[in-house]
Amino acid sequence: MKLKKNLVFIGMMGSGKSSIGSLVANKLKLNFIDIDNEIENNLKIKIKKIFEVKGEAYFRKIEEQITLKKLKLCSTVISLGGGAFENNIIRKEVVKNHLSFWLKWDYKILLERIKNSRKRPLAMNSTENELIDLMKKRSNFYSKASYEIKCDNLTKNEIMNKVIKIYEKN
Ligand code: S3P
Repeated sequence: MKLKKNLVFIGMMGSGKSSIGSLVANKLKLNFIDIDNEIENNLKIKIKKIFEVKGEAYFRKIEEQITLKKLKLCSTVISLGGGAFENNIIRKEVVKNHLSFWLKWDYKILLERIKNSRKRPLAMNSTENELIDLMKKRSNFYSKASYEIKCDNLTKNEIMNKVIKIYEKN
């Protein structure tokens, strides 16, 4: 095993953190963890329902706990929720101790992907302008990632290969 650090995928909802993360993990024969799935499995309730019943602040607390716990693993591919990097503690831990990849897309592409999502409470309850403002605000946080992958015009396999090339240099 080459690397002890975790490979962490960050970026907006719809940026492909889970699908690219799982492709990379398969190729490198590493374990893959999707934090949204972990939260749903732990609480036995869908994220949409957590937002409805308990509110976003509660979701963020659980997201922080589970994310920090999973980051203690080694050599694991982890895809974070789109809002996780707004959390100072998570962001600092990832930036300091892990190899992180921001899957960066044109705002318009992301908007098209998420605006009709039925499982993403933030996308469901925001206007297009609010989502664009959110993407702009979050870009400042995402830009702290170790690597930025410009994904527009790339296939999933091409994105995966870029990540693997970077991994191999580390
Ligand atoms: C969120 C993104 C979602 C999920 C939750 C909140 C966000 O994850 O964590 O709905 O704040 O952007 P994905 O980025 O995997 O969709």
